[in-house]
Amino acid sequence: MADFVRIVEVGPRDGLQNEKAMVATADKIELVDRLSASGLRTVEATSFVSPKWVPQLADAAEVMAGISRRPGVAYPVLVPNEQGYARARTAGADEVAVFTAASEAFTRQNINASIEESIERFAPVLARARADGVRVRGYVSTVLGCPYQGQVPLADVVRVARRLHAMGCYEVSLGDTIGVGTPRKAREMLLAVAAEVPMAALAVHFHDTYGQALANVAACIEAGVRVADSAVAGTGGCPYARGASGNVASEDLAYMLQGMGIDTGIDLEALAATGRWLAQRLGRATGSKVGQALAAA
Ligand code: HMG
Ligand code: MG
Repeated sequence: MADFVRIVEVGPRDGLQNEKAMVATADKIELVDRLSASGLRTVEATSFVSPKWVPQLADAAEVMAGISRRPGVAYPVLVPNEQGYARARTAGADEVAVFTAASEAFTRQNINASIEESIERFAPVLARARADGVRVRGYVSTVLGCPYQGQVPLADVVRVARRLHAMGCYEVSLGDTIGVGTPRKAREMLLAVAAEVPMAALAVHFHDTYGQALANVAACIEAGVRVADSAVAGTGGCPYARGASGNVASEDLAYMLQGMGIDTGIDLEALAATGRWLAQRLGRATGSKVGQALAAA
């Protein structure tokens, strides 16, 4: 069987939560549909956080109502608490993602809770999800550095990842929220977590603030991870993480993986065209080098 990496497309959520301009709901729906049509198996569609905290995604229910679901594609949505879970379920979500961090300071800024409190909030979400047959993904942010506390001890990353997995998250995504990581550190972090949580239940999530995101994913792929998050056109960032910039671009990641002989199931031309379409909607050039190169070719 060919080596396969599942790309988790986070552009409609991570990408759009950080845009200054409001994106029209119809464009968000078109974005999700174009992404699923390009062969992605997982498209994080939106976020049911407080609209006071992230007004950009206040139309989450309308987006869920408008998308055309393809068989075989998962559409997880972010939920911070039970209220978000209830809204997500009413809107028809059948996969959700909970999120916390390895840094206390960041968790306080992002979700107004301690790490422990955030995990306590997830317990009823996971219990309801289990009863409803809803799959739950988990995120650990600030795995390679925090905008408020600086260094983040590896032991904290491992502890939080282990907790999320033990409480029932089928996959734990390790997030370099502010993009400060470099390949060797990324690999060491992944291997430290993989000593406690099965590698098959891990994903990596890199932001490209210092231009290291693709190199970091490559190091983690070589170390054995087979799920990577990315955002089309290199959009992304967290409004509560000072200095966080875009995610690794999905087009660049898909191109790299194809070049490594790894299957992704993605139609690269279609994905790159979607990236350029989105960038145009956002009033700028695509942040994907592959998207630019294919347009020029
Ligand atoms: P809070 O203010 O402490 O919460 O916020 P609260 O429970 O006191 O509620 C305050 C108000 O919000 C109340 O309304 C609630 O009803 C409402 P009011 O009574 O004032 O009218 N509320 C909600 N409304 C809708 N949906 C909900 C919800 N919850 C409460 N789910 C809270 C706490 C967690 C809600 C808030 O801090 C929040 O929503 N934070 C989200 C921040 C966020 O989305 N950050 C970006 C995502 S994380 C990320 O990007 C990192 C990642 O990409 C990985 C990586 O890169 O590392 C995943
Ligand atoms: Mg992110």
